[in-house]
Amino acid sequence: MAHVRSLFFTGPLDEVENKALKALKLGRPSEIIWNITNRCNLLCDHCYMAADGQKKPEQLSDEEAMALVEQMGEAGVPLLFMSGGEPMVRSNFWDILERARELDIRVTVSTNATLIDRDTAKRLKSLGIDWIATSLYGPDEFHDAMVRVPGTRAKVIDAIKILREEGVGVAIKSAVSQDTWPHVYDLIRETKELDAGLIYLCDLITSGRSEGEDDIRISAEQWRELADFIVEDLLDPESTLEYDIGALPSVIPYIAEKLIARGIDVSRGLERLKIMSACPVGKGHMNINSEGGIMPCQFAQDWVVGNVREMSLMDATSELYKLDEQEAKGACAPEACEYSRICRGCRTKAWQATGDAMEVDTTCILHPERNRGQDEAAAFSDPSHSPATPCGSGGACG
Ligand SMILES: C[S@@+](CC[C@H](N)C(=O)[O-])C[C@H]1O[C@@H](n2cnc3c(N)ncnc32)[C@H](O)[C@@H]1O
Ligand code: SF4
Ligand code: SF4
Repeated sequence: MAHVRSLFFTGPLDEVENKALKALKLGRPSEIIWNITNRCNLLCDHCYMAADGQKKPEQLSDEEAMALVEQMGEAGVPLLFMSGGEPMVRSNFWDILERARELDIRVTVSTNATLIDRDTAKRLKSLGIDWIATSLYGPDEFHDAMVRVPGTRAKVIDAIKILREEGVGVAIKSAVSQDTWPHVYDLIRETKELDAGLIYLCDLITSGRSEGEDDIRISAEQWRELADFIVEDLLDPESTLEYDIGALPSVIPYIAEKLIARGIDVSRGLERLKIMSACPVGKGHMNINSEGGIMPCQFAQDWVVGNVREMSLMDATSELYKLDEQEAKGACAPEACEYSRICRGCRTKAWQATGDAMEVDTTCILHPERNRGQDEAAAFSDPSHSPATPCGSGGACG
């Protein structure tokens, strides 16, 4: 997860990124993604949470949830993402949100937007909510089939228009797979037409209802095509769209290489990446599931390092920072990859594939041949990849 425009140029997320960086330097959580419930009013085919109409039996009670918000205030958490399931179906959603805002925590609500009408949008605005993040997958019929509730897309589009009219920023999220691939470029165009400032494109996570679906991930070549498109858009003086890429950190060094080749100075972004890295695991990024489990990443709901019922947020932060003290292995190791410390590879995919979070990220789009288990020495001497490297030779990015 990295805001590409704000990283290499200036973008709408500059201030947010600066706050997160400051918190990280102070040893605090830089941001928290909290799945406040697993319950959902939709039943998306691909949902990594496998969310449905049921809340988890051990879901944090309303009292526990409010106590957690107090702790977030005390720990100086700058950014909170309220997610789910569908966060707006939780009965004390507004209590959590209002208290977080009173504690001066910046909040983004990650919602399917089906419960947002004019009154809700006004209420969100009055609470100083800058961003709502909502999901689109393709045209009407496709979207509705994917979320398994007819009429959903029309509701989402209405909600986006209302939010923009009320002055709330909108981010569009989509999961990128062979299913949604035919619609990705249309979604980017539509995001601009809807005056939404950011598009978040997440590589398909093969857990929950996508478990075992590795064959519908798009290829490294398709990702490179998409990244090339993003580079052109970043360089288009008419475009201001922010891009965020989920679960595919290698897109960041790929884009950095392309920008360098175009004569762009990316040094500011690279300096930042030395601290934050493209994969946020272990970098102050904290995730809390609906049962209070503290996770390095929201995409692995069963990778839990403790529970807020028995661990303070500050102790949890220290526990998560330990993940940053370890080096990635194999083709992602510092001696093997010049981008090791600015990218780190997707630690969650490594954990899901092998049980060892430091293992190689086999979905790398820069060195796919190295990471898929072929003879590494042969791949290293492959003359077909001779990039304009952001780190220079010898891994200076480390
Ligand atoms: C889990 S949902 C929670 C918020 C809200 N219910 C929504 O759908 O926007 C957050 C985001 O995760 C995305 N997502 C769900 N399953 C995914 C998967 N298997 N791979 C990648 N993204 C996924 C959804 O498309 C959505 O944009
Ligand atoms: S992706 Fe979001 S809307 Fe869809 S089932 Fe999962 S939690 Fe619900
Ligand atoms: S090999 Fe690993 S660390 Fe290097 S660019 Fe690829 S995913 Fe990132």
